[in-house]
Amino acid sequence: MLVNDVDIRTSAVSPSQYPTDGWPEIALVGRSNVGKSSLTNKLINRKALARTSSAPGKTQTLNFYEVEHQLFFVDVPGYGYAKVSKAQRAAFGEMIEAYLTGRTVLRGVVQLVDGRHAPTADDVAMYQYLTYYHLPVLVIATKMDKVKPSQYNKSESSVRKTMTLSPGTPLVLFSAQTGMGKDAVWAWIEARMQD
Ligand code: GTP
Ligand code: MG
Repeated sequence: MLVNDVDIRTSAVSPSQYPTDGWPEIALVGRSNVGKSSLTNKLINRKALARTSSAPGKTQTLNFYEVEHQLFFVDVPGYGYAKVSKAQRAAFGEMIEAYLTGRTVLRGVVQLVDGRHAPTADDVAMYQYLTYYHLPVLVIATKMDKVKPSQYNKSESSVRKTMTLSPGTPLVLFSAQTGMGKDAVWAWIEARMQD
């Protein structure tokens, strides 16, 4: 998609605050600091519309980015962030669960993992959760600019194996820094929009 027109529409913590346009939505999930906001910015050709930070836990609400008046990207707060309180984590969990299980216009979920390391137990649990609810998932191994090209195959098989990805789940190697994988991610999103 040629993207010129993007804006943050709203930040929501409960369903009554979600947009009511009826446009398809693609959610971005992943551990804190994995690069969800950076991916959003890369896909929409903006340097810093989605706020990024080297300190994990930057994004604490569901942020709806309106793309070309036909689609929303939903930046979901990162899971597995140790420094928030238990109560806060439970509240996050409920907010994310309400969105992922109850949102009828949600067409697919992009799950990011760190391509430099094997996926964590949190990553595996999130993937199982998404597939349990029959949500179409695209897995992205990001920060691949930090991985030598000779290791790409190894990263790919490590992610597939550790997360026990079903053969039908696509996996894209990505870098928000170089733009690697960007076209493949857009192709998946556009296909999800047609459904
Ligand atoms: P939370 O909002 O806290 O959940 O984090 P996030 O997943 O939105 O991560 P964010 O996009 O803020 O990125 C976290 C850090 O990783 C920042 O310092 C980014 O610059 C860095 N980063 C993100 N993507 C990449 C990438 O593809 N390559 C490299 N080298 N660094 C990246
Ligand atoms: Mg973020």
